Amino acid sequence: MIMPIVAYGHPTLRKKAEDITKDYPGLQQLIADMFETMYVSNGVGLAAPQVNRSIRLIVMDATPYADEFPGETNLKRVFINAKIVEETGEEWSFNEGCLSIPEIREDVMRRSELRMQYYDENFEFHDERITGVLARVIQHEYDHLEGILFVDRINPLRKIMLKRKLTEITKGMVKTDYRMLFPLAKKKV
Ligand code: CO
Repeated sequence: MIMPIVAYGHPTLRKKAEDITKDYPGLQQLIADMFETMYVSNGVGLAAPQVNRSIRLIVMDATPYADEFPGETNLKRVFINAKIVEETGEEWSFNEGCLSIPEIREDVMRRSELRMQYYDENFEFHDERITGVLARVIQHEYDHLEGILFVDRINPLRKIMLKRKLTEITKGMVKTDYRMLFPLAKKKV
């Protein structure tokens, strides 16, 4: 089932998401629904708060970046109760977008390597070092679990310039080819 994606300004995007247990109701269905929602909206990652669930669940399929970053394997992943325990390496710039903030893309600086502890969809524990574009997608999605959005990480002056556009998104004054939930929409769109 395709789920609506909550837009910038929605309170769930600003909450710190909570850990879940393996008997979380409907977990496998939710994972399947999140993948379906992500694919239909052409995203490479989706965090549960973006479908209005304040839990620490991320789905990711970075296959669209496979050519750009050869050598990366295992691009389709599920991360549950993820914890980034370390971020290392040089900061590098990458042009990020977000399904919750349509029509805005900005360069964001982040470190190149991370170490993360998480459970996969079978609730197997992993402690893993991740680099490159995978790390980048994870850092972006991980921020969603912490109530942080990529526009919080750009130059403050740049963010001021985007303020009007961000307000329009909150009000639903934006066109997307996927279904969204706008916090201040006057009528159903
Ligand atoms: Co995002």
